[in-house]
Amino acid sequence: MSNDKNSRAGFATRAIHHAYDAYAGHGSLNPPVYLSSTYTFPTVEDGAARFAGEQAGFVYSRVGNPTTALLEARLAELEGGEAALVTASGQGATTSLLWTLLAPGDEIIADKTLYGCTFGYLNHGLAKFGVKVTHLDLTVPGNLEAAINPATRVVFFESPANPNMRLVDIAAVSAIARRHGALTVVDNTYCTPYLQRPIELGADFVLHSATKYLGGHGDLIAGAIVGPAETLTQVRFYGLKDMTGAVLSAQDAFLVLRGLKTLTLRMDRHCANAQGVAEFLAAHPKVSAVHFPGLPGFPQYELAQRQMAQPGGMIAFELKDGIEAGRRFMNALSCSPGRSASATRKAWPSIRRA
Ligand SMILES: Cc1ncc(COP(=O)(O)O)c(C=O)c1O
Repeated sequence: MSNDKNSRAGFATRAIHHAYDAYAGHGSLNPPVYLSSTYTFPTVEDGAARFAGEQAGFVYSRVGNPTTALLEARLAELEGGEAALVTASGQGATTSLLWTLLAPGDEIIADKTLYGCTFGYLNHGLAKFGVKVTHLDLTVPGNLEAAINPATRVVFFESPANPNMRLVDIAAVSAIARRHGALTVVDNTYCTPYLQRPIELGADFVLHSATKYLGGHGDLIAGAIVGPAETLTQVRFYGLKDMTGAVLSAQDAFLVLRGLKTLTLRMDRHCANAQGVAEFLAAHPKVSAVHFPGLPGFPQYELAQRQMAQPGGMIAFELKDGIEAGRRFMNALSCSPGRSASATRKAWPSIRRA
């Protein structure tokens, strides 16, 4: 499925074409969706060799499938990693990776701001099975230098972090972790490889909730891990196959591949829109704080300029009148153009009124 010409192409072209050779099949512009759970073998000996990992080829789609393999090749290329592994959700990516990397007695040092379910998995999952979970403010790399120790196996963070947009200096933190023999895992969901490539900055693994920008249309749940090929083979055969079973379907892999075709166009527009909204909010008398890496007043503006190609499409902001004002603001929003929030509420039979 490889197409070497694409390795010299620009990001947008590789996001559309990398690793798919239309001429190898029927000339189909789009890749086939291999809706097959199992595969046939020419002989018993071939089947045995494939199951043993001694012969290339597919055996069962919990371990690999040609459509998910294409998505993996493309994401590895875009993130600048050796290999990738796609999963049924971003949560499945986090759990498949960390169940593989960590063992009882190991420590994971994670930033103090994390996506809620990642926080839940670390503290209610890993911690229950004998992994020490330590949360630090990793926006200050010196905090890691002071706390890291021989038991620290993984350093984990998001940048920007969900939901408050704090950034972590990927190069500085990865360098400290590497010097102490620990692996750095970066959740790059908020940026996508179009805006930020943590592996090029020294991280070992990148995680994605492909449910968001990579898929891009709100019609699927998916995840991905990018990193060294040898470790990802272990993640595939242990974390994914045995522990989580969080396997992405070929149909959803196809939808992510389709989403990737417009990734650069969408991200450029998201960033431009967010910049405009952030500037509007920053000047608004009812807004007390705006957290957006594209505003010169953002405390980590210099770091944002250094490690992100653009500031991204996510904004956090606070209202002067607090939580009640936030509630009123949210309820005044509508996802149906021209329809007010209260009209939406009336038209929505599944909303129970108190
Ligand atoms: C930063 C981040 N990481 C991981 C996840 C989990 O991804 P998923 O919902 O695809 O399981 C999310 C989901 O919102 C997220 O925002």
